Amino acid sequence: MNCLSPSILAADFAKLGEQIQMLDRAGAQYLHIDVMDGVFVPDISFGMPVVKSIRRCTERIFDVHLMVTNPDHYIDAFYDCGADLITVHAEAVQHLDATIDKIHEKGIIAGVALSPATPIERIEWVLPKTDMVLIMTVNPGYGGQKLIPYTLDKVRAVRELIQKKGLKTDIEVDGGITLENVREVLAAGANIIVSGSSVFDGDIQENAEAFLRILSEDERG
Ligand code: DX5
Ligand code: ZN
Repeated sequence: MNCLSPSILAADFAKLGEQIQMLDRAGAQYLHIDVMDGVFVPDISFGMPVVKSIRRCTERIFDVHLMVTNPDHYIDAFYDCGADLITVHAEAVQHLDATIDKIHEKGIIAGVALSPATPIERIEWVLPKTDMVLIMTVNPGYGGQKLIPYTLDKVRAVRELIQKKGLKTDIEVDGGITLENVREVLAAGANIIVSGSSVFDGDIQENAEAFLRILSEDERG
C-alpha cells in the first residue's frame, strides 16, 4: 500500500499540535519524526519529550527516523514515547541483525536506512527480517534539499532484490520529494513517501491531500 509520511522537521514547532491535526484531517497514514543528535548528522532536532507530547494529538503511525550514533541506546526510550516504527541507519549500527531484533522485541516495526553512498549489499542478508528499507534520497541532516537522481536507481535495485527474495518489505524514500517528482519516485518502487517542506510550505492540509491523491492514483495504476 502507498502511504504518506509527512516529516514534522518542516513544521512550525510553535503550532505543532495544530499542524499535525491538519495532516490527520488530510488522511496521512504515518508521521515522520526525524531525530538528530548533532553527531551522526550535524544538526540537533528534538527528542523524547516532543514525541511524547505529540503522541496525545494523533493516532497515526509514528515513524521515528533515528539519525543518531548508537541508536540501540534509544530504542527503549522511543518505544516508551509511542514509536510504532523505528528506523536506524545501517552506517550507525555495529550489529544490524541484533538491532533489528531489539526493535522487534518491543513488538514494533523495524526499518533500516541507507544514506546515498551506502551500497544496498549492506542490508542483503537482513532483508528478510527487515520490515522497511529507507532509501535516503538526500544526505541525511537537513530538510529542504534536492533529491539526488541516482538514489532512484537504488530504489529500483532494492525493489528488485525484495521481489527476487519473494518478500513484502516496504520501501520508504526520504528527502527532496515534491508533488512534481513523486510519481517518478513511486514508479521506481517506493511505497512510503516522506515529505517535509513540500507538505508544510503553504496550505498543509491541501498539500498532503494532493500527495495522497497521487499515491492512490498510482495504486490504481
Ligand atoms: C533529512 C530528513 C528528512 C527531511 C525531509 O535528513 O531525514 O526527513 O525532513 O525533508 P524534505 O522533504 O524537505 O527534504
Ligand atoms: Zn527522515
